[in-house]
Amino acid sequence: MNNFLNEEFNLSNYDKANLTKWSAHQEGAKMLPFWVADMDFMIAPAIKEALLAGVKGGRLGYGNVPEELNKVVCERLDRIYGWQVQPSEIIWKMGIVPFLCIISRTFAGLGGEVVVPTPVYYHLFNAPDWGGQRTIRIPFTGQGNTLDFDWVKIESTMKKGVKIFSLCNPHNPGGIVFKESQLNKLGDLCEKYDVLICSDEIHCDLILDENTKHTPIASLNKKLAARTLTLMSPSKSFNLAGLGASFCVVQNKAIHQKLTIAARGILHDPPTLGYRAALAAYKSSDWWLKELIIYLISNRDLVIDFFKDSSFFEVQVPHEATYLAWIESKKISTDKLMDLFLKAGLCLSNGKIFDGDKYFRLNFGCHKKTLLEGLQLIKKSIAKF
Ligand SMILES: Cc1ncc(COP(=O)(O)O)c(C=O)c1O
Repeated sequence: MNNFLNEEFNLSNYDKANLTKWSAHQEGAKMLPFWVADMDFMIAPAIKEALLAGVKGGRLGYGNVPEELNKVVCERLDRIYGWQVQPSEIIWKMGIVPFLCIISRTFAGLGGEVVVPTPVYYHLFNAPDWGGQRTIRIPFTGQGNTLDFDWVKIESTMKKGVKIFSLCNPHNPGGIVFKESQLNKLGDLCEKYDVLICSDEIHCDLILDENTKHTPIASLNKKLAARTLTLMSPSKSFNLAGLGASFCVVQNKAIHQKLTIAARGILHDPPTLGYRAALAAYKSSDWWLKELIIYLISNRDLVIDFFKDSSFFEVQVPHEATYLAWIESKKISTDKLMDLFLKAGLCLSNGKIFDGDKYFRLNFGCHKKTLLEGLQLIKKSIAKF
């Protein structure tokens, strides 16, 4: 096992105060954090070296997208998904959420309708809500791995005129990967009703099941490629969220141009250190990702096992992707539960923020010691019930 997974987890005082995940406090007492989607592991050595080289060089002005980075991304998309993307089809900006917002405003317009299946990572519905679009939330049918789109509602909504379908695949917080059959069916509907697809695939590298394969919806066929904006980034898989190096693949020239113009002066380019880190991640750190995934699989199994016989909680399984477990609270409201967790010194995410009442989300992207401590505290927090 590699050092980054074993490494003693020491945070500086600056980190403790200023890393969002670790800065949660309740009346002065420190909280053990299982909320924000960051992992606790040390970044890959090549990334650290690239960042140190950038800092040592001492030039931190504006940066261009390194040609090599686009080349590496295109090769990677082809190698992993058989998806042919050209460097000119990639737009780099700082952060996926700003992309979600600008896409919603630019392509749905004021009052334009955006379909968002829920529960989902909240910025998928915040983006159209904030932008003056009309967000149509359509609850998923089924649970866990049976999570499916409500095809009837989706089609009846599309019939009335929808501009964008907002997809989160792999799914946060559900932990599943949509099957090709589901993506094809969705693609057919978007084609039939002329709906653009905004596909947030930020978690695509974090597949925890060897029988599960991620498929970018745009890679399915040329027609879908022409109506899809695909959002990706090394932020989650390589733990670089604070550097904001994110990209959008747009293979339709008119949409590409419209997005480029709309982003001017609003979406910032990634910092030069972000580009350096992204290149080192995609070019030299796949071995790190492989080791990480083995560790995450054992953490996921630990979580599932821990709650196996619980009458209070049910972990949604199979869990195919992401380091975020989606857990149903069967007896206590999640508001009450969050209260109990806070009192026990735990910070988790209330499912309500994802439009998923009765659920909470647990980030298991941490060292086993931390995870075990957290799980024991969860158990203790509900002991009186
Ligand atoms: C599905 C999804 N999209 C976007 C983001 C945030 O992306 P960014 O920090 O690049 O804006 C997250 C963070 O957890 C996420 O889970």
